[in-house]
Amino acid sequence: MSERIAVYPGSFDPVTLGHIDILERATLIFDKVVVAVLKNSDKTPLFSTAERVELLRQSIGDNPRVDVATFEGLTVEFAKRVGATALVRGLRVVSDFESEFQMALMNRRLAPAIHTVFLMTSFANVFISSSIIREVCSIGGNIDGLVPSASAAALRQRFGSFSEVS
Ligand code: PNS
Repeated sequence: MSERIAVYPGSFDPVTLGHIDILERATLIFDKVVVAVLKNSDKTPLFSTAERVELLRQSIGDNPRVDVATFEGLTVEFAKRVGATALVRGLRVVSDFESEFQMALMNRRLAPAIHTVFLMTSFANVFISSSIIREVCSIGGNIDGLVPSASAAALRQRFGSFSEVS
């Protein structure tokens, strides 16, 4: 049987423990997971593409089933180029569903042979998103335990030290 390859696309600005959780679950299902960092989106990222890739690499470590890559343009076109038949997206809460459903249906219309697979994050991660992490850090709050140590170090460097968790 041919290798089952999935693409896990996202902004990863920065990678959180929620992302790592979804990635680990995906590696239990697929032979190879390509983590695909979107280069140019409408959003202005906190970390550059190279920084986001580096934080992912440090956080994932050496895993022969995982590759980290960057892409521009349509996710499904990138997925075709790497031979993937699936896109992985994490779901945390019901409010994620609407936009994820819309994106999955658009991607299916663009590339019917590529299937979106939603994986449920662990309960401990339901409230973690890169945007809330960035916001809390920017005003001095502590995000230890919510992001990999590489992301925490990069955020400290960017925003200064965090307050203590009481
Ligand atoms: O981590 P994010 O910001 O939720 O990831 C969103 C992402 C990168 C998966 C999405 O914006 C995307 O796929 N962008 C690439 C452009 C594209 O393919 N758009 C059509 C899908 S609706």
